[in-house]
Amino acid sequence: MQKILITGGAGFIGSHVVRLFVRKYPEYHIVNLDKLTYAGNLENLDDIKEYSNYEFIRGDITQLEFLADLFEKYKFSGVIHLAAESHVDRSIINPLEFVYTNIIGTVNLLNAARKIWQNPQDRHIFYHISTDEVYGSLDEEGYFSEDTPYDPQSPYSASKAGSDHFVRAYFNTYGLPVIITNCSNNYGPNQFPEKLIPLAINNIKNNISIPVYGKGENIRDWLYVEDHAKAIDLVFHRGMPGETYNIGGNNEWRNIDLIRLLCELMDKRLNRTAGTSEKLITFVKDRAGHDLRYAIDSSKICTKLGWAPALGFREGLERTVDWYLANERWLTNVLSGDYEKYYVTQYLKR
Ligand code: NAD
Ligand code: DAU
Repeated sequence: MQKILITGGAGFIGSHVVRLFVRKYPEYHIVNLDKLTYAGNLENLDDIKEYSNYEFIRGDITQLEFLADLFEKYKFSGVIHLAAESHVDRSIINPLEFVYTNIIGTVNLLNAARKIWQNPQDRHIFYHISTDEVYGSLDEEGYFSEDTPYDPQSPYSASKAGSDHFVRAYFNTYGLPVIITNCSNNYGPNQFPEKLIPLAINNIKNNISIPVYGKGENIRDWLYVEDHAKAIDLVFHRGMPGETYNIGGNNEWRNIDLIRLLCELMDKRLNRTAGTSEKLITFVKDRAGHDLRYAIDSSKICTKLGWAPALGFREGLERTVDWYLANERWLTNVLSGDYEKYYVTQYLKR
């Protein structure tokens, strides 16, 4: 039985990837390694926790000895690496945490894999999940392709760029079979409500102002999280070692337009008079170094591997809103402790 390590599987995207793999591949033994930071939540995986091909291990990727022992014990044949500090605003408050987890954690995993993958005849894959933010910011024109030079602007994207460089260096220097994908903004169920869409849903629900940074003119390319998970499945099984694939939704929205659409959907769902939620929109101080626009050219993964996003944006957003409204307990559970402190620092003390 192949043993596959998925890191960060209790987080937003990771939980969708773990669910897809556990259900689709009963012949794999899926090990989910997660530190369970504020962003990791085992409730995300309640529906698959009893599957016999699934195992959860709590652990920290910054701990090299722990990782070396884990790889020695399980002899993983593949790694899908999602564990990271993932929120740009937190990286502005505490960059070092991002260096430890995103760079040192990734290099630790590369070392642990390299140590046990000595036979080049065996098929192994180290698949590193990265972001479009490593490419920096676009003006109104153009798209990020796999050849776009790296130009990260935030501590988060700098740490992800650093990790990508190490992953490529291990391919070039040691021949470690690696693949990288750089994806655009994900949305959907189980996203921690510090990110724009779930934060806005939660605030609208509770009649709290919706903080829109600057003039709300920044543009992001949104992809439903299950479409990303399907792309990860495809790349893991059919991608070429040493290659990079960009993944995007071909779905660009100005933040303010997205928030207005969300307000419209929420008014309908909450039986509020049209226009009620829009009144909550509040323009606040801009994010420092705020990237203007991200837009992905996904033609490589579409043509080489036959991937395409399946879900339209309005439908995806409706599903997301419905999920958050139906999962009140999930929201209450994550919106405590660390998050309350963060919300005060980020939005109320500025
Ligand atoms: P998330 O913050 O929701 O989840 C991250 C997970 O990693 C959490 O479960 C957390 O507990 C775990 N983790 C953090 N530090 C750890 C450590 N030291 N050891 C072990 N586990 C640790 O993040 P996400 O949004 O699901 O993103 C997952 C990956 O995808 C990240 O690498 C991110 O950079 C990348 N990505 C995210 C997006 C997006 O829109 N969310 C888009 C493109 C790429
Ligand atoms: O592009 C991929 C990236 O998308 C991932 O690598 C990151 O992990 C993920 O967090 C996301 O980064 P963004 O910074 O684009 O996402 P966020 O949801 O934080 O913000 C989306 C946009 O909304 C951005 O332009 C900032 C703005 N924003 C965000 C928040 C939290 C607001 O206007 N108000 C807010 O309160």
